[in-house]
Amino acid sequence: MEPLAIAEAQQLWAPAGTYLNTASYGLPPQPAWDALQVALADWQGGRTSWEHWGGPGEDARASFARLVGVPVEQVAIGPNVSTLVGLVAASIPDGAHVLVPDVEFTSLLFPFMVQEHRGVTVRLVPPDQLASEIEPHVDVVAFSAVQMATGEVADLDAIAAAAAEHGVFTVVDATQAVGWLPFAEARFDVVAAHAYKWMMSPRGTAFMAIGPQRMEAVVPHTAGWYAGEDPLQTFFGGPLRLAASARRFDTSPAWFMWVATAAALDVIERVGVDEIHAHDVALANRFRAGLGLEPSNSAIVFCDIADAADKLERAGIRAAVRGGRLRTSWHVYNTDADVARTLDVLLA
Ligand SMILES: Cc1ncc(COP(=O)(O)O)c(C=O)c1O
Repeated sequence: MEPLAIAEAQQLWAPAGTYLNTASYGLPPQPAWDALQVALADWQGGRTSWEHWGGPGEDARASFARLVGVPVEQVAIGPNVSTLVGLVAASIPDGAHVLVPDVEFTSLLFPFMVQEHRGVTVRLVPPDQLASEIEPHVDVVAFSAVQMATGEVADLDAIAAAAAEHGVFTVVDATQAVGWLPFAEARFDVVAAHAYKWMMSPRGTAFMAIGPQRMEAVVPHTAGWYAGEDPLQTFFGGPLRLAASARRFDTSPAWFMWVATAAALDVIERVGVDEIHAHDVALANRFRAGLGLEPSNSAIVFCDIADAADKLERAGIRAAVRGGRLRTSWHVYNTDADVARTLDVLLA
């Protein structure tokens, strides 16, 4: 794998203006865009058979395994977070007690809430109380590593320690984390992430890493041909033959989306998450300093500035408003010039 310095990597993006909305969706690096066009042209012309379009899903699975520090056999691929987490939620015991932060994104929360008909209870607590609320009667804790609604990075050490002490099943949504936050987190039972934000991939490609200690307890409710050890051998008839690995939780991939995802993850690995992390947080903190805010450990910055959304819109700067507050997100393609320009526009 050829290393890539950030300055060099930045040549791989061409945002139309200042783009500060990676927490909504990330921008594809050129190799991801190019690989997608090639696959689309092959599709349009019917130039190839289809089997090799499964290959990039395998490359992406291996990249994700490295990014989250688990063996590739523990990684499943799917279309989005809620589909993958839904398998886990549908498999926890009747009457289980689930603890979730009260600002949690619904793709992690609703899959547990819909289990209420079988006695599953979901208790919502403020994110900063999550670790201290993990008590002996809690069976599952489900939370985002980085909250989309606040940008807050969860206290992973405290949550992992409390969960380990009480044998609690941990389910992490790392959609707002993997790609910028070093997240080699084999200590959590399940880590699910959609790749279209910080992994700068198209929508429709997601991963779930699941520890061997939990694999047997989760039913692959969505199993089809892709849940077999070798999907090309599980086209027809019984008996049921599921993969021994987490592949049993796979569903058949949206081929072309995975072509781009594999190429985007390759760029992330070549640049290195530690480097991206340092870059993103430094930009976020420069922006915070310009607004008179204390530094933080997040690539996502929330702030309250009157008419902020209108000012940015008029200047062609893309950001988001969540919960009435301005949300900017800082990623590998952003620069000091983006910080300066955004501060100029906001503080004018
Ligand atoms: C933390 C988090 N998880 C998941 C998603 C997307 O959910 P899904 O993959 O179910 O579309 C988002 C989108 O904003 C998110 O912020």
